[in-house]
Amino acid sequence: MSAHAISPSIGTQLHGRYRAVRAATERLTEHLSEADCVVQSMTDASPVKWHLAHTTWFFETFILEKAVPDYQPVNPAFRFLFNSYYNGIGDKHPRPERGLITRPDLAQVRSYRAQIDERIGQAWLHGHLSSPQLLSLLEIGLNHEQQHQELILTDFKHLLSKNPLQPTYRAHWPLVPVAQRREQWLHYDGGLVQIGHRGDDFAFDNESPAHRVFLEPFELAAYPATNGEYLAFIDDGGYQRPELWLSLGWDAVHARAWRAPLYWSQQDGQWRVFTLHGPMPLDPSAPVCHLSYFEADAFARWSNAVLPTEAQWEHAAQRALASAAHGNFADNNLLHPVAAQHERPLNAPAQLFGDVWEWTRSSYDAYPGFTPAPGLVGEYNGKFMAGQYVLRGGSCATPAGHVRASYRNFFPPDARWQFSGVRLTR
Ligand SMILES: [Fe+2]
Repeated sequence: MSAHAISPSIGTQLHGRYRAVRAATERLTEHLSEADCVVQSMTDASPVKWHLAHTTWFFETFILEKAVPDYQPVNPAFRFLFNSYYNGIGDKHPRPERGLITRPDLAQVRSYRAQIDERIGQAWLHGHLSSPQLLSLLEIGLNHEQQHQELILTDFKHLLSKNPLQPTYRAHWPLVPVAQRREQWLHYDGGLVQIGHRGDDFAFDNESPAHRVFLEPFELAAYPATNGEYLAFIDDGGYQRPELWLSLGWDAVHARAWRAPLYWSQQDGQWRVFTLHGPMPLDPSAPVCHLSYFEADAFARWSNAVLPTEAQWEHAAQRALASAAHGNFADNNLLHPVAAQHERPLNAPAQLFGDVWEWTRSSYDAYPGFTPAPGLVGEYNGKFMAGQYVLRGGSCATPAGHVRASYRNFFPPDARWQFSGVRLTR
């Protein structure tokens, strides 16, 4: 997974990061009830309790079992119950039935977390975690838990949206000033460019190897598309015009009766969106989100534009010297995309990082020379390289510091429950 070796001195820092990442998960979920954490709203989403247990299972299965001599599991049944998709580990509980796991209860799962944290601490003390291979797996485990922190928010939002009372995850709406802006395009000469992960910091295996890609000249939108722009597409009959849609997209529009992005609803002629802070009036200046790939693609065609390739996106991010340290990430606690808060840097795109994941038109595929991470954790990314599209840049539900220019997220083209938006190119 990780493309680099980790020295033991970095291991000491990793233990501090372990505690910080685990505590962040607790903070996200500590105010939720037992019932909040058990129900599964759809097959794609998992209950909060399952996320809490599965991230813990990862550390127990991939690290403690290997690191600690004669390791005895906290509960042997958890190896099956909280395995997500690792066939090399053994049997797993069916994903669509995760909401049926009422036992162990939430307190037992929280206790499981505490016991594994204790055992990881003991393993540090006894020097069981000093090998570069185990430290590398630990770093994967931390990045894995951060991915599940985002899924906790997106899955829980979906669950709340199914409740007619439209309850909130956090009951305050962070009022932020709205910047109006107009359509702007940035020019890129293209040519032979390099994409993929370089350097010594952590990256997932699917970001490597770095390699060259040829780009024709292109223009990239300075901002992600807004709710106002998407509303113009809807008002122009976007969902009723077959010429705008891919065949599979047109099928999805009809089979699922799509008339607007997920979580949009109309009341007395006014559009509202369901957010983690409850239902809110639609902000026309904020980035549009909860689009499928098909909707992003149809909107692009209506706009006389296309979606960027992931190479175009990454090249623009490199050129902008955009730092993934800045952006509307989950740590802001806005938990919703908002209009650009600052002046855009000269000749650089705004909001590349944070707010919304941006669909690209690149199929999620192996880079030339890709090799999955060694061992059972090699199932993490590589085996999903069929039938999905790449998204870039992170969202308002992504933990700050988790993404980078080379980071590749991926979802099937009909997925809408992530904070997924669109930036146009032409
Ligand atoms: Fe996972």
